[in-house]
Amino acid sequence: MLDIAFAKSALPKSGTLVLLLDEAGEAAGGAAGPTLLHKAADDATGGAIGRALAAADFTGRVGQSAIILAPGAGLMRVIAIGIGKRGAFSSRLAEDAGGMATAMLARDAQASVDVSGLTPALAASFAMGAVLRGYRFDRYRTTEKPEDKPKLTKLVLLGGEATKARAAWDALRPVAEGVFLSRDLVSEPPNVLNPASMADRCKALTKLGLTVDVFGPKELTKLGFGALLGVSQGSVNEPRMVVMQWHGAPAGRKGKTKPVAFVGKGVTFDSGGISIKPAGGMEDMKWDMAGAGTVVGLMAALAGRRAKVNAVGLVGLVENMPSGSAQRPGDVVKTYSGQTVEIINTDAEGRMVLADVLWYCQQKFDPAFMVDLATLTGAMMVSLGHEYAGFFSNDDALAANLYTAGQTTGEKLWRMPLHENYDKQLKSEIADMKHVGPRPAGAITAAQFLQRFVNGKPWAHLDIAGMAWSGKDMPTTPKGATAYGVRLLDQMVADCYES
Ligand code: BES
Ligand code: MN
Ligand code: ZN
Repeated sequence: MLDIAFAKSALPKSGTLVLLLDEAGEAAGGAAGPTLLHKAADDATGGAIGRALAAADFTGRVGQSAIILAPGAGLMRVIAIGIGKRGAFSSRLAEDAGGMATAMLARDAQASVDVSGLTPALAASFAMGAVLRGYRFDRYRTTEKPEDKPKLTKLVLLGGEATKARAAWDALRPVAEGVFLSRDLVSEPPNVLNPASMADRCKALTKLGLTVDVFGPKELTKLGFGALLGVSQGSVNEPRMVVMQWHGAPAGRKGKTKPVAFVGKGVTFDSGGISIKPAGGMEDMKWDMAGAGTVVGLMAALAGRRAKVNAVGLVGLVENMPSGSAQRPGDVVKTYSGQTVEIINTDAEGRMVLADVLWYCQQKFDPAFMVDLATLTGAMMVSLGHEYAGFFSNDDALAANLYTAGQTTGEKLWRMPLHENYDKQLKSEIADMKHVGPRPAGAITAAQFLQRFVNGKPWAHLDIAGMAWSGKDMPTTPKGATAYGVRLLDQMVADCYES
């Protein structure tokens, strides 16, 4: 992780300096405004910076940037990033500016950033964005030349209220670590990350103060997890369920001590099973455990920042494979809830895993609410693409809290409908229900299926099929595993459940 340091404002004598300039004239003159180093740098270089920015038509618009090479006074590069109107510069925009800086600084080992015009909170958000964009999964690259690797290891934030900014960053850092953990898990190849090895990585989180319990096939059979075990039965890799608990609510808190609960789909590889998927793109199904990856990263974030809340995170870990012992379409399984399900398509496996884990969660913990995350349906991606996750909820207050946290963090989500007429489409001739409906509204009927296993508890289901993996670089997320949901849910907990 990128190292973030804070120091007093002083014009660096060498290296690269990043300036954050607003559109109220700082770019043009440098005389006004609180970006003190801009003025100092401009003076020291005999006005070269102002002239270069004018020549580049740099006005300070949000998202605008310019690189000035060797302006003088020993500086190798000055990078200007536009922040728009100072009054409207939010934590969201500050993160994007940080991400942009990291992307532009890939060739420098270290750089200075003038944050003298920002509040401590905004300086910390800039750091957060810079760190998040600097994520890279390069465990398995053994022949990459050193000169091809990104060099940036350290950012020094200059000016502002350094002590307060450092404290603000210290509070965000565990969340960045949760995001990195989640991205690591999702990036791992499926021969390395299977249910057992993923459970081991969860177990390692006891070092953060989490209680971690791992259930293997024996325990799951004894409990009667027929739905989860049915998915897993074709694979030589045994299933696991992991239960992570964080006890952070102050002892004296009245009422609100019921835990908040998060449940993740953890299919470490989804071949489709007997209803096998086409070959093209099947490698993507290594990230079919992203819901679980988010829950693990979130629990690490909550524990890492000592969140004042009681939280439980449960993940159902399986591999969905075809074999002589695999589940067949037509099979009927008995879920942990006692309800029976007719299997129609073994590729609709995620909802089977979640059915048992959701039921267990509400029985065991009587939580304030349950939020599940799953790369559940291709249909969700067809609806919303890669901009918004779709979510479903039986509780308007929970839905509103999620939506608001999405706006704050930029991990956006959009509510989708539930209705009994969709639910009716799950009627089976042989069992209590089948697990898939007809093709239309496939994301909704999947949610209706899950709702049958929440026992009326406040619940939301996030279908993150379109969000877990990004095909392109984004401001605070390099292409690849996004860890979508870690920031969102951490924010919701912080805003709504810690006081
Ligand atoms: N893991 C997939 C959904 C998915 C597809 C996520 C592509 C991300 C990218 C899920 O298990 C699945 O296969 N769903 C089926 C359900 C269908 C058989 C009812 C789908 O969406 O096609
Ligand atoms: Mn599937
Ligand atoms: Zn799947």
